[in-house]
Amino acid sequence: MLVEPYKIKTVEQIKLLSYPEREQRLKQANFNLFNLKSEDVFIDLLTDSGTSAMSDNQWAGLMLGDEAYSGSKSYYNLEKTVQEIFGYKQVIPVHQGRAAEHIFFATVLKKGDYVPSNTHFDTTRANISYTGAIPVDLVIQTKDCEHPFKGNIDLEKLENLIKKTGNEKIPLATLTITNNSVGGQPVSMQNIKETRALLSKYNIPLYIDACRFAENAYFIKKREKGFENKSIKQICREMFSYAEGCLMSAKKDGLANMGGFFACNDETLAEKVTHFLVLFEGFRTYGGLAGRDLEAIARGLQEVLDEDYLSFRVNQVKYLGDQLDKLGVPIVKPTGGHAVFVDGGAMLSHIKKENYPAQALACALYKEGGVRSVEVGGLMLSHKDKETGKMIFPEADLVRLAIPRRVYTNSHMDYVASVFEEVKKKKDKVKGLKLVYEAPWLRHFTAKLEEV
Ligand code: F0G
Repeated sequence: MLVEPYKIKTVEQIKLLSYPEREQRLKQANFNLFNLKSEDVFIDLLTDSGTSAMSDNQWAGLMLGDEAYSGSKSYYNLEKTVQEIFGYKQVIPVHQGRAAEHIFFATVLKKGDYVPSNTHFDTTRANISYTGAIPVDLVIQTKDCEHPFKGNIDLEKLENLIKKTGNEKIPLATLTITNNSVGGQPVSMQNIKETRALLSKYNIPLYIDACRFAENAYFIKKREKGFENKSIKQICREMFSYAEGCLMSAKKDGLANMGGFFACNDETLAEKVTHFLVLFEGFRTYGGLAGRDLEAIARGLQEVLDEDYLSFRVNQVKYLGDQLDKLGVPIVKPTGGHAVFVDGGAMLSHIKKENYPAQALACALYKEGGVRSVEVGGLMLSHKDKETGKMIFPEADLVRLAIPRRVYTNSHMDYVASVFEEVKKKKDKVKGLKLVYEAPWLRHFTAKLEEV
């Protein structure tokens, strides 16, 4: 039976506004859910990032946070924890994942370089592009909709790219585990190992985008032969042993509300990255964080390895996915580690790609039941072709229902499913949207839209 492996010590009131109020808030937000006030949201599935509920142990740790400018005890706790779980000696704290991307990529990339990955997350892509380098996504394409490791990188495509550009143009490759942008799908140990072997042939280092590393390790334990009797920690150590280092947003599997780190074994590289750290983030032993944040992350990283927790976590996502599937809502299968991805383009097939069907669905879910989700489709990912000037749209228009960690109960999931049931009944009446304002970088955060 799927039951929460924790009990609730503190509660936070949530309130469902009336339908006319929600309709008005949506208009005020220019049909961009990032612009809503969180107090106007009933169930918030916008992101699983920084939204975790901390444990009693983490809250107790906040009081023990050492706020020294340098040499904080909490930093050393974090360093020791990262060394133990990830196996990297050099641990550089930062205020969140994209800060690790910024200082690391600014150190190692230059204009005209290529950075292959299974799929880059949007901040990663933006930080790579910002240096003038070119991010390349090479995730496997599979017709098998129940493929257990849909997050894998396509090794043939990777080798073709290396041969085409030459390895001197590829200072590094990355693997995002789990692969957020393609449904939170995991990457297999075999794929990580083979990526390592291929890159070694060409002397290219591998770095892991580790935000959801524990969820990935859990999938390996459950789905990959030979790992069923290994502990999550053993699986983590093996995954990271195939890479030179990692970039981590502790706002996900760090079970913390803020923070991250860059970690590696290369002392010289760590020193270079630290130059930018000091310039943009802070001293080496706090990296833009309070001592109490460092403490919360150190404790969160230990807690996330708990198998009862991970089993509930991954199965709660599946629980929601199964309910939507039963209702005939098209979802990405199998469900991933942190979110259910709904195919908004397929569900609202009367809306053209140019009118952002997935964003329209996300707006409809808010209007119908105060549920906030995020679009991962045309609004987030479409871009102008540099040569033809034509808009290129992603293959799928998805809506991500990201489940915060340890925050919602299964009855909240039942509620979300009931909102989908209502939207489905009225789906032909849902209107498409048009873009009326966009920013040059990461436009989905600030875009303004209107109904058509
Ligand atoms: N890498 C991945 C795979 C991510 O999912 C994120 C953030 C980052 C890097 C950047 O980390 O937010 O701490 O700067 N993902 C959040 C999300 C925002 O909603 O998926 P950050």
